[in-house]
Amino acid sequence: MRNSAHEPQFKHFKVVPTTPTIGATIEGLHLSELTDESAAELRTALWRYGVLFARKQNLSFDQMKAVAYRFGDQLEKHSFGKTLVEQGHPEVLLIERLQSDKAKTTTDIWHHDVSARANPNIMSILQAEVVPFGADTMWSSATAAFERLPFALKQLFLNIDIDHDTLYLMLRHDFGDASMAIEKIAGLRESNTHPAVIDHPFTGRPTLFVGNGYVKRVHGYTAELSELILKIASEMTKVPELQVRHQWQPGDVALWDNFGTVHYGVTADLGDQVRRLHRVAAWSPSVRPSLDRDRALRALVAPRVEPGLRAVGAR
Ligand SMILES: [Fe+2]
Repeated sequence: MRNSAHEPQFKHFKVVPTTPTIGATIEGLHLSELTDESAAELRTALWRYGVLFARKQNLSFDQMKAVAYRFGDQLEKHSFGKTLVEQGHPEVLLIERLQSDKAKTTTDIWHHDVSARANPNIMSILQAEVVPFGADTMWSSATAAFERLPFALKQLFLNIDIDHDTLYLMLRHDFGDASMAIEKIAGLRESNTHPAVIDHPFTGRPTLFVGNGYVKRVHGYTAELSELILKIASEMTKVPELQVRHQWQPGDVALWDNFGTVHYGVTADLGDQVRRLHRVAAWSPSVRPSLDRDRALRALVAPRVEPGLRAVGAR
């Protein structure tokens, strides 16, 4: 746990942490009224808490986009998800489950959004419109997940790369009759190899960047070994101490750090209830997952070999 004396201070809004590790509610700020100063504080808060919640926002789509532009210079246009392109908002992803829908949704997987892209999203802003009881969203800190790994596993993950592929979202998980979806995704397939641990682009802290959505395998490893290693990363996201769960109310907004967290949309028990949320996400051509591997490995080993430093594991 961090010492509260070292927590960042905010002038433009109040921050109420949800857990010691991840999540905070911001109060006293309507996100449509961001200034350069309050936006800078909002970025500081997001990099510290991983996910921020704001109640009663009811932002317009243009206002959601304006918030996203405070985090990246491009807005994502999702390659296979349903967007509001016909209403003039190709940047707004519609996350919707209708009463008539029989198929499983694609949100109940721990994942970093669009990790198969060369430049995955930096942040997402998600606003709830219709949210039935039980349709919560969960986030888990990928930075704390790396921190929590024992030394030998830190070494392992610092030394491997992961092949990400959009097609594997469909192939690795059961979506019922997915043949149409597979065809659609295959036509727009994206694949990239990223380090399994990245230097967080805004905090510099080592962060596990694996997830369980688009991951295909550990680069260069056999499928069998790869599955074992991916399972370790997957298990880390399930540690309750690293998680926060949000119970939505209509008009709520959540903003999350897409590198520093993974998220999971809880949907299993909804029956025939309708669910509708909208998401806008920001990215930048200059921000891509990367790792200074030599420096990270030296930093990991240094406390073991350099006299005068604290022992491994001491914080
Ligand atoms: Fe997602």
